[in-house]
Amino acid sequence: MKYNFDTPIDRKNTNCLKHDLLDHFFGKTDILPMWIADMDIAIPDFIIDAVKKRAEHPVYGYTAFSKNYFQNFIDWMYKRHGVVIEKEWICFSPGVVPALNMSVLTYTNKNDKIIIQPPVYPPFFSTIKDHDRVVVENNLQFCNGNFCMDFEDLESKIDEQTTMFILCNPHNPGGRCWKKEELEKLIHICHKNNITIISDEIHSDLIRNNHQHTSMLS
Ligand SMILES: Cc1ncc(COP(=O)(O)O)c(C=O)c1O
Repeated sequence: MKYNFDTPIDRKNTNCLKHDLLDHFFGKTDILPMWIADMDIAIPDFIIDAVKKRAEHPVYGYTAFSKNYFQNFIDWMYKRHGVVIEKEWICFSPGVVPALNMSVLTYTNKNDKIIIQPPVYPPFFSTIKDHDRVVVENNLQFCNGNFCMDFEDLESKIDEQTTMFILCNPHNPGGRCWKKEELEKLIHICHKNNITIISDEIHSDLIRNNHQHTSMLS
């Protein structure tokens, strides 16, 4: 497959959040929008062809899961991450941020404390605040030129009201793929304190330079 990463594509005036709302977010338009994980390269032809094929059918009615939907996901998780998943565990969500919001609403109550590890993807804050829960910041530290977790600080911030921990693995923007030992330590602390862990692993397929993603499910 040949990809073209060199041809600039004009996205202006396409209701594109990244380019069309520069003035709204930054008060000016003569800047490069490098703030959002949204690429300006063309999507591969086979995806465009599949979308076109579907669009050509004249009835846009309600859809159901395709025959291979669950098995494809189960196979991918095993092949790529060595994780064994059962069909009954899978629950569809229209996006990861909606899933975070639903998890907060489902597993916590108003005024509960939820721990996150800043600096972290901004919606982690809003998903907690928007539902009247309390953000508890267990800030990442710098250890030997890399981000690391501060377990002492974590334990000191847990109390009776703390019911959830939202993990970012791999971490955005920290770039860390958390190691098995770190995850085990985290699980131990959360389990001891009856804290539900929500693990956002959206970036797990984008691992470079021989790093290894360890899923919370492994
Ligand atoms: C950690 C993290 N979670 C979730 C998302 C977005 O998820 P979605 O678009 O599926 O809601 C991003 C996008 O950058 C992200 O970095």
